[in-house]
Amino acid sequence: MIFDIITVFPEMFTGILEYGILHRARQSGLVDVRIVNLRDFTRDRHRSVDDRPYGGGEGMVFMPAPLFEAIEFCSDKEKNLDSQVILLTPQGKTWSQKYATEFSTIAHLILICGRYEGVDQRVIDCLVDREISVGDFILTGGEIPAMVVLDSVVRLLPGALGRWESAVNESFSTGLLDYPQYTRPAEYRGHKVPEILLSGNHENIEKWRKQKALEKTQQIRPELIAKKTAQN
Ligand SMILES: C[S@@+](CC[C@H](N)C(=O)[O-])C[C@H]1O[C@@H](n2cnc3c(N)ncnc32)[C@H](O)[C@@H]1O
Repeated sequence: MIFDIITVFPEMFTGILEYGILHRARQSGLVDVRIVNLRDFTRDRHRSVDDRPYGGGEGMVFMPAPLFEAIEFCSDKEKNLDSQVILLTPQGKTWSQKYATEFSTIAHLILICGRYEGVDQRVIDCLVDREISVGDFILTGGEIPAMVVLDSVVRLLPGALGRWESAVNESFSTGLLDYPQYTRPAEYRGHKVPEILLSGNHENIEKWRKQKALEKTQQIRPELIAKKTAQN
């Protein structure tokens, strides 16, 4: 799978690409992540990517030309692949595990990180396939949302997770939140690990975990249970 991430702050991605599962997935060739500097597609000596909004108002807007050229550059490189252009924006559909699973089957994703007041609407109308939001709040730029998409998709690629990690029983994969986890020691500052987890009875442990996942979801995210019930 290939990611092209279009940004005015390429350096922001250095950290996330160098650690953990993402690093391993890149090293093993499961994913190729290319950070594309939007300013490389400007023609003036100030390397401008933004201008004032028509009609007046606050802030600046990404101009169409650098974005059109950057997106076309990324698409042209991978003409034979199934590609999708994604704009990170608070006006998009809310990101979820369902989308992460769906996107993990797309061969080439081009992610556009907005800044300022956003991007010229003509970019969206002509070139963007989907608009994605990471939640109902406003961040200063699309870089952190792009990292959210990248990280949650890459860990679903077959072979990305190691022996000790699993995407099967996690929160949302089952439609519920995850059950509580414990590790050694069996007692810490007087707080004991539930007896059942030390029992070795896997059938009972499984039942207990299901029950705990249900209780936690009921308490914190009851709408997930309603959704799961409606689907069954
Ligand atoms: C300050 S925001 C622009 C907000 C825009 N004026 C609006 O009200 O929708 C700048 C950029 O940050 C990114 N951004 C901010 N919040 C986001 C969110 N919740 N999800 C995805 N991207 C977001 C987008 O790329 C956006 O273009």
